[in-house]
Amino acid sequence: MLVDLEITGRDQAYPWLLQWMTAFHRAQHGGAPPSTAISSTPKHRLLASLIRRFRPRLHHLQVQTFQPQNGPSHAAHFSFVPGQGQHILQYGGALILVQRQREKTMNISTGDPFETITLTTLYSHRSVFEDIFAEAHQLYQQMQEGKTVIYNSMGPSWQPFGDPKRKRPLESVVLERGVKEKIVEDVQAFLAARTWYLDRGIPYRRGYLLYGPPGTGKSSFIQALAGHLDFNIAILNVSERGLTDDRLNHLLTKVPPRTIVLLEDVDVAFLNRKQAGSDGYAGATVTFSGLLNALDGVASAEERIIFLTTNHVERLDEALIRPGRVDMTVRLGEATEYQIEQIWDRFYAEIDVGGEAKQRFLAKVRKLRLIDVVSTASLQGLFLYNKENAQGAIDMVEGLTAHSLRDNHVPVPREVDTSRKPA
Ligand SMILES: Nc1ncnc2c1ncn2[C@@H]1O[C@H](COP(=O)(O)OP(=O)(O)OP(=O)(O)O)[C@@H](O)[C@H]1O
Ligand SMILES: [Mg+2]
Repeated sequence: MLVDLEITGRDQAYPWLLQWMTAFHRAQHGGAPPSTAISSTPKHRLLASLIRRFRPRLHHLQVQTFQPQNGPSHAAHFSFVPGQGQHILQYGGALILVQRQREKTMNISTGDPFETITLTTLYSHRSVFEDIFAEAHQLYQQMQEGKTVIYNSMGPSWQPFGDPKRKRPLESVVLERGVKEKIVEDVQAFLAARTWYLDRGIPYRRGYLLYGPPGTGKSSFIQALAGHLDFNIAILNVSERGLTDDRLNHLLTKVPPRTIVLLEDVDVAFLNRKQAGSDGYAGATVTFSGLLNALDGVASAEERIIFLTTNHVERLDEALIRPGRVDMTVRLGEATEYQIEQIWDRFYAEIDVGGEAKQRFLAKVRKLRLIDVVSTASLQGLFLYNKENAQGAIDMVEGLTAHSLRDNHVPVPREVDTSRKPA
């Protein structure tokens, strides 16, 4: 008697299984591209050759190309995954028939055809399915370890954007004294209070608003926080064209598990106060009421952590900052003396051991009245330019003055700023 197990492309474990099959083949064949499993016993060999004879498409492979994020841009590596069709693999003592099928229908939002994989084996070997999935999950977790998955929206669903990124250490983001700790403690207290919320029937979610000028570490901090908490991050730019109220609402009900939602540039919704017309269409951008509704959305037992960011807090409405929508509001401002010192140390502590150059730098910064004026991003830019050259940084401080910033910096209107990909 045979038993089969079907897994659809829509299931979270689908890519894990494909990855596992690739790794499994590779392990069996010492790095050679996968082909059907070589069986060890004569009985198995006979069985395999019989199956092979009746299944003509056993060698159908599909290539997956990866471009590493670090390394030359032309570098790429390939891996062969079991393609459409049928494959045999031998796992432990069990022979398993793997059928990867493409359905005629496709996912309209991504254009990818729906797929299923069916595993078939002898009934007496059915326990191998559990082992395979356990291994596939473990492999997946190993590959994610130390990484943050970034999701972007694709139509009505979230899709991983590129390969998982290395976690950004929390220490690498320098905020004013105590600010980081305050937010981290709040999120951790929230995560620890699940039963408290559920027992009281309070929606288990928490919202944070980070506001402040460009380049003060809002997005970087949220990304580092996600890594610190071992969460992934789903980024949505509210100013994105084609993001309607419905789509936003839908996306927020479909957030992958253990994922922080980051809604960038929420002020855009406040420029667009018009309500949906009688046909339910409100244009191609999110409206004010659409944003509020999405934040109020259905409560679930899973935690939901949302961070909102804006450069224009003055455009926001009181209604947004109501507890339950936004529970904590934090301003990240231009670099304070504390931050300047900290960032200096991150770059030059090793070469400026006594801190003598730092004092000269700070004296100059004070004289030029740059404290609480320059952004942490431009400070970082100066230090990057003068990597391992503390004196160079001191000599070039004038470059940070408001005057020269104005001269060198042409503000790009938000709507046409296409460079705002996830950092
Ligand atoms: N406080 C900070 N600590 C460390 N790095 C920072 C800080 N602020 C900015 N940076 C660096 O500057 C760059 C831009 O920062 P980031 O994207 O986080 O700014 P932002 O506040 O989100 O800006 P925007 O409002 O334009 O979205 C990043 O490379 C980041 O590493
Ligand atoms: Mg940002």
